[in-house]
Amino acid sequence: RITPVILCGGSGTRLWPLSRAARPKQMLALAGPDSLLRQTVARVGDPQVFAAPVAVGAAAQADAIAREVEQLGALILEPAQRNTAPAIALAALNAAGDDVLLVLPSDHLIADAEGFREAVRRALPFAREGWIVTFGMAPDRPETGYGYIRRGAAIGEGVFAAERFVEKPDAETAVRYLADGGYDWNGGIFLLRADVAIEGLRTHAPEILAAAREAFDRAARDGVRIVPEAAAFRAAPSQSIDYALMEKAGKVAVMPVSIGWSDIGSWDALHDRLPHDEGGNAIAGDVVALDVRGCLIRSDGPVIAAIGVNDLVIVATADAVLVVPRDQAQRVKEIVDALGKDG
Ligand code: GDD
Ligand code: MG
Repeated sequence: RITPVILCGGSGTRLWPLSRAARPKQMLALAGPDSLLRQTVARVGDPQVFAAPVAVGAAAQADAIAREVEQLGALILEPAQRNTAPAIALAALNAAGDDVLLVLPSDHLIADAEGFREAVRRALPFAREGWIVTFGMAPDRPETGYGYIRRGAAIGEGVFAAERFVEKPDAETAVRYLADGGYDWNGGIFLLRADVAIEGLRTHAPEILAAAREAFDRAARDGVRIVPEAAAFRAAPSQSIDYALMEKAGKVAVMPVSIGWSDIGSWDALHDRLPHDEGGNAIAGDVVALDVRGCLIRSDGPVIAAIGVNDLVIVATADAVLVVPRDQAQRVKEIVDALGKDG
């Protein structure tokens, strides 16, 4: 069986005022009644194919994660935030060498869950052979917040060796990759053997592996909870798996998929994904809207009343209100920066 490794240690701020340091995006119910984390777990719930998931996240989020992930194989609690490479190193160290890990971001939407599982099943033999299989999403804009993977020679039906993996290229490069047509976005989902992860980190990011190993060997354990030793873990360089391993590793493959994937990087991206009323609005919570078009309006607190406005995002929580044109939703980060650490 495949072991899902669910990365839930991120602290996205692009969905302020809903996402906060203490309530990161994966804990939010953005589409439907369940949190993104719970939806991620449900996607890999078939016990015939998947073992109980291993969640890796911040120690401060332990109880929140445990509430959302009911059947935990293990809960690895990072004493400090060191990005995804050290987090994945811990999960790989906790696994048996030939375990196949499905590394999953906890804060994405996938509309076609069955298509996703089918892709994972098709990818499995390649991961068993030692490939790091990535899942390629068809790019539709020169996004600079993603990794880009160039398809090389086919290694099987619908699976290609990755000729190149470039994490977060600059704008000019992203435009070129889009025009080239041979690139897919990295969806951030990886299927690989635990020993392949460890060997790859040993070769390309030895300090990360060494720090993770020492922290893991000296971890405190309590039931399924594993708390790596803090001082050792803090010594790990803070780097994403994309920079630490994917850009450098040899046997990386890409399987292009069409599964309705979105990482919901902004309120505008969420508006795109939600069902719309006849005015093109996505409305949730206590909202009265008259002659409103193309808006995302959501209240987790007070009544929102809107009249005669178009293409806005209006989001209210108990203690904050955001109003921004949909096409400037990327700028929410500026608000968070202006407000300081926790918005
Ligand atoms: N446990 C743990 N610890 N998880 C973390 C940490 C950490 O320190 N940092 C981030 N995560 C989790 C996030 O919660 C998210 O689920 C996932 O790891 C990916 O991290 P992001 O910070 O969201 O990465 P990104 O969006 O900048 O880039 C990645 O995803 C893109 C697609 O959305 C890369 O893999 C890109 O190549 C990819 O295109
Ligand atoms: Mg992300």
